[in-house]
Amino acid sequence: MPSTSELEALYRRRGAATFGARLRRWLTPPAPFVMNPAEPKDFPLGRWNLYIGGAGRAVAGYINLDLFPMPGVDLAADAEQLPFPDGVFQRVECDAVLEHVRRPEQAMREIQRVLAPGGYLHLVTPFCHPFHEYPKDYRRFTPDGLKELAAGLEPVAEGWRTGPTATLLVFTIEYAKLVLPFRWWRAAAHGVLGWLLFPLRYLDLLFFRTARAGRIGNHCYLWLRK
Ligand SMILES: C[S@@+](CC[C@H](N)C(=O)[O-])C[C@H]1O[C@@H](n2cnc3c(N)ncnc32)[C@H](O)[C@@H]1O
Repeated sequence: MPSTSELEALYRRRGAATFGARLRRWLTPPAPFVMNPAEPKDFPLGRWNLYIGGAGRAVAGYINLDLFPMPGVDLAADAEQLPFPDGVFQRVECDAVLEHVRRPEQAMREIQRVLAPGGYLHLVTPFCHPFHEYPKDYRRFTPDGLKELAAGLEPVAEGWRTGPTATLLVFTIEYAKLVLPFRWWRAAAHGVLGWLLFPLRYLDLLFFRTARAGRIGNHCYLWLRK
């Protein structure tokens, strides 16, 4: 498991302006996934909105809360114990975080508590995705499991954020890295395979239109209203 300081170093490396960091960013292949263009994004923001788990990124219009006081983070706290009064946020974003939370039921209770009546919650979670620790990785979710977790809120939209081709590509790259003993070999394999395989990601634009996409979907999304 990466230590807190390793995670902090990772976030700092990503944003660094050194020649090495710029070269690394330039060589980094495009993501092996495309986002589902049908996923709604336009639910209203309010005066106060909460983004959970946005370390290393700027999230305009939100209070950015994360376990780690990294660049971009407004408040270091645990999603299981949100330091806010009841009903203050019009919108809460929780994107690729619940798999890292030790007690997701407790985090959901807290999110529901701080959400204003009529407010919106956006959940995104992995279904078929490699192990990744931020700082731990506890579980995966099906859309039904996610809805069960958020029972008490009204689902208003659901679907696949990233599809079956994304699953195939991320697992292929991880599989290739499994057999390579040295870190820089794995980095090279990641780069070479990433550049070779990424054009296939556009196949998901076809799969998003079919119900079968979810058999091996990568990340699912759910929008809910309180
Ligand atoms: C996979 S990253 C999410 C990435 C982010 N949503 C994005 O799209 O860039 C998970 C984030 O959740 C944070 N995190 C993990 N457990 C948390 C917790 N219990 N409370 C708050 N943040 C947490 C991690 O520090 C990490 O920044």
